[in-house]
Amino acid sequence: MAQNLHIFKNPLELATQFAGHLMNWIGNHTGNVFNLAISGGKTPDLLFSVLAEKYADSAPWQKIHFWWVDERMVAPDHPESNFGVARKLLFSQISIPEENIHRIKGENVPETEALSYSAQIRESLISRNGWPAFNLILLGMGDDGHTASIFPNQMELLQSERICEVATHPSTGQKRITLTGNVINNAGQVCFLVTGTNKANRLTEIFTRQETAKLLPASHILPRNGNLNWYMDKSAAQFINSESWRDLESHSD
Ligand code: 6PG
Repeated sequence: MAQNLHIFKNPLELATQFAGHLMNWIGNHTGNVFNLAISGGKTPDLLFSVLAEKYADSAPWQKIHFWWVDERMVAPDHPESNFGVARKLLFSQISIPEENIHRIKGENVPETEALSYSAQIRESLISRNGWPAFNLILLGMGDDGHTASIFPNQMELLQSERICEVATHPSTGQKRITLTGNVINNAGQVCFLVTGTNKANRLTEIFTRQETAKLLPASHILPRNGNLNWYMDKSAAQFINSESWRDLESHSD
């Protein structure tokens, strides 16, 4: 597994550069389908806007299949719906076949939808190491070190034998569906997009390999056969010096 670190001066620079890297990966992908799983939260909003603004007419949208890393179990028009935000900022601005958008149906019963979405993924993606293989998975990280909807008090979801699981937000109790750690670590490429000062301490814990990092789900994302790319802005990376990134190629853009 190769790990790369990319540090940018601000979130817009990060989103702009990452969008270009994403388009390159998709353009260089020889297959006629690129299965991309995206996360929710606020960080991807800028990326969606940059993709809509700069690539609406040039990206091979017919080749890109959008899946979700996780979803809040709310209706698609609910302000907290990860699908709803992506539809507003990106899908409503581009011409992409409806069948390329594989949303998690937040309005359904969580357990039923977890099984249904798992089956859709299994039927649609190639299998590698006995797990479905996404071409690229885009992750965020919470200031508690969670990623996807795998929270520190639900670390068992990292090793689940299921493709998707129902998770519960530790403070709001909100039900979510999430890809499990085995699926995330089976992707060809995993990219973390992490911005903001509130993430700096956790990132330092992870990258200076502190003992406490083992309690953070994000530190267990180590794709077996793929590459792990960290995209951070300077605020999130403020306590990290390049010397501490052992066995990592670091690029400061
Ligand atoms: C979600 C995300 C979640 C997110 C982190 C970071 O549905 O909330 O998938 O894992 O990536 O919480 O969120 P921010 O980008 O808002 O900091």
